Formats: sequence, structure tokens, C-alpha cells
Amino acid sequence: MTFERYGTMNVNEKGHLEVGGVDTLKLAQKYGTPLYVYDVALIRDRARGFKKTFAEMEIDAQVAYASKAFSSIAIYQLMAEEDLSLDVVSGGELYTAIKANFPKERIHFHGNNKTAEELKMALDYDIGCIVLDNYDEITLLQKLLEERKQKMAVLIRVTPGIEAHTHDYILTGQDDSKFGFGLTNGQAEKAIQEVLAAEEQFDLIGLHCHIGSQIFETTGFVMAAHRIMEQLVLWRDSLGFESKVLNLGGGFGVRYTQDDQPLDPSEYVRQIVQEVKQMAINHRLEMPEIWIEPGRSLVGEAGTTLYKIGSRKEVPGIRDYVAVDGGMNDNIRPALYEAQYEAVLAKNPLGKTEETVAIAGKCCESGDMLIWDLRLPKAFSEEILAVFCTGAYGYSMASNYNRIPRPAVVFVEDGQDKLVIKRESYADLVRNDLSFIEV
Ligand code: LLP
Repeated sequence: MTFERYGTMNVNEKGHLEVGGVDTLKLAQKYGTPLYVYDVALIRDRARGFKKTFAEMEIDAQVAYASKAFSSIAIYQLMAEEDLSLDVVSGGELYTAIKANFPKERIHFHGNNKTAEELKMALDYDIGCIVLDNYDEITLLQKLLEERKQKMAVLIRVTPGIEAHTHDYILTGQDDSKFGFGLTNGQAEKAIQEVLAAEEQFDLIGLHCHIGSQIFETTGFVMAAHRIMEQLVLWRDSLGFESKVLNLGGGFGVRYTQDDQPLDPSEYVRQIVQEVKQMAINHRLEMPEIWIEPGRSLVGEAGTTLYKIGSRKEVPGIRDYVAVDGGMNDNIRPALYEAQYEAVLAKNPLGKTEETVAIAGKCCESGDMLIWDLRLPKAFSEEILAVFCTGAYGYSMASNYNRIPRPAVVFVEDGQDKLVIKRESYADLVRNDLSFIEV
């Protein structure tokens, strides 16, 4: 029976939750819990959806996977297979991309404080482009390029002064932001002038902006595109600058709970492109290539976390706590952003719900709650709980708090399962520890 939730999710003939044609109870048994399970077909579908939209609109484009959402060799290989580009934000993500053999010319490097070592690494690998974020970085990168007699394609990140409707911590396009150059206060213009003046080192191919994350409305994206295009008209006339590329970032919302009503991801693209196209026609500007950087909308809904239920505590008249064998160490989003999730028992996702429980993590912290109010059939110890939509910023923000090893990650597709990140062992946890006292 089809289980109308995400991607290839199904309820199989045994009544169990199935993803990618694989029984989740079998996965839990085979790999242990907590376990991250990714529906590969859903990721491919999203990647192809974005690309198809650009193709249908006859727009030159790059779809770069914002890999902070989930970074690993396997996911980079999958994105390469789907012909996407890659947004990395640290030496670690870049290193992972190189290890995955990701086509280097399609790697874009972001970040508000890239170190000299990280920049050198990007130059050594001669990646596709670096997104300049501040004046110090312009100076530093120019110096490095001068020393190496190398030239690098760059974008300039601008903050267009847009207040998108999302959680404050994941807002980035407003004036008061640690990222990028202000569009309206003269900073962006000064940055463009500096970069254009260093033409031996920089090939300024365009501008970048990202207004925030988990955004449902198209208005913010369209406004950002409009404002940048307005500026580009002015800069064409005053600076002779033409932006070959306009990178409008990511941030397209996903459905964590039934209350979330995101648009089809391609609809965001359609509206952004329409705005840019219209502005280009109106002002006789060359239509720029459009780049986007979705993270969450590519991998969020594709991820499901399987936990084993353990202890239970009833607080009479208040609530029943049901504890699982993971928590804020593998998914900090509920504790950090009050993020909401939904979950089912893997053995009978369609079972009649009988009680409302609070799903607690196992960390020594009262805030370590995964879901406050979850309707479930009676949930017993040892049963498997499947939490939906954990594919973005779950594993990638995982920690070893309380010295809990990070979970394993499995990809499933067409009835096959493939381990792509091993579960950490206790030995892994002490690998970098050194003795204080010789024994
Ligand atoms: N491009 C840039 C420059 C970004 O900063 C981000 C996300 C993205 C693209 C991808 O955004 P997405 O399509 O995934 O929304 N940890 C938070 C999200 C932080 C997002 C940071 N930047 C969370 O768990 O909600």
C-alpha cells in the first residue's frame, strides 16, 4: 500500500514502513539504531526536477547542492551522477568533495571566514569559483593569487536587505547579517570596484545572494532577484559591470509536518527566473546564467531516522515520556530551532493511534526532546520509531555530546541498501585523545 508521505515510502505486505523498497525494520536489525536512511530516488527526483525546470525555461543554469545540509562522499558522488554542482563552505567539505572525485570545476566555495589554508586548498585544486564574502577576503585571496600567478573565477555575495519569513537563526539576507556585502549601503559597489581593479587575479563572473532557509513564500526570492537586477542596471551604466552569473542561493522550504505547505521546489525556480527575465528584457540587460543552491529541498524529505524505543516515564496528569536511543546528538534541530517532526512506529505506520507521547532523547539535558506531542499506537520498548524528514542538517550537525557515537547512514534504492557512513565506534571516540598521565 502506498504510504502518502515522502518519495518512495510505502507500507509493505507485512504492514511495515518501507523506503526505497527496503523494509525499515530489516534495516534497523541489519545496521542497528539510530540509523539515517536516505531515499536515493527522491533525491534524484528533486535534482532532476530543478534541472528540468531550467531546461524548460531555456535558461543556462547550475544547480549546486548546498552540501552543508548533508556532507559525505556518497552524497557528493550521487550529486555528481546527477550532474549537479556543489557548494562547499569549509576545508572539510572541500576535502570530502575531492575524495569523492567531484568534478572540481563545478565546486563553489562559500563562507564568511575562509582561512588562508582553506583558500590555498581551493586554489591548489583550481575549483570552479570562490564566493567572496568580505573585504578582508578580497585582500587575502588577491595576495595568494598574486603570489601563485593564478587567476580565479569569483562571485561577490551581496545582502539584498530582504527579511524572509523564517527562524531568525537561519535568516541571512537582511542588512544586519554576518554574510556578504550590503547591496544598498555602498559596500557591494565598493567590492565590485576592488575586484574589477584586480583583473590579473580575479575573473568576476557574477553576484550571489541567499536570503535564508526553510522559506515557503516566493516573494522574498523574487524581491531579492528584482533588487539585484535593479542594481545591475545601475552598475552596467556606472561601472561597465555585467554579471554573467546570478546565484540566488537556496532556502526552498520542505514539509516537516503536515502543517507545512511548501510549493513544488521547481515553482520557486520558475518565479525567480521569470522575474530576472522580465527585468533583463525591460532594461536590455544580457540574461545572466541563473545558479541556485538548494540543500534542504534536495535531501531533507529523503532522510528518515530510525530509533529504538527504550525507557518510558509517565508523569501523571502531565505527559508520558518515551525515550529513544538517539536525540540531540544526531538531530539538534528541535533543541536549537524548536523544529517540529512527525514519526510513526515502523512496524505499523498506519496503526490506530491510541496515545500522545513525548519523544525524549538520551542526552543528559532536559532540552533533548525530539517531538513533544506525538500521536502513536501504544509504543513498547524495543520497537522502532521512524522520524521523517531528517535528511537535512541532521547528520551534518550531529555531535558526540555525552560521548555518544554518531549513527550510521544507509542509502536505499530499488530494493537495495548500501551503507555509506559507518556507525562510529567507542574507539573512534577516543581516537584523538592523548593520555595526560603515562600508564
Ligand atoms: N546557500 C547558502 C549560501 C546558504 O547559506 C545555505 C544555507 C544554502 C545555500 C542552503 O539552504 P537550504 O536550501 O538548505 O535551505 N542548520 C539550519 C539551516 C542553516 C542554513 C545555512 N545556509 C537548519 O537546520 O535549519
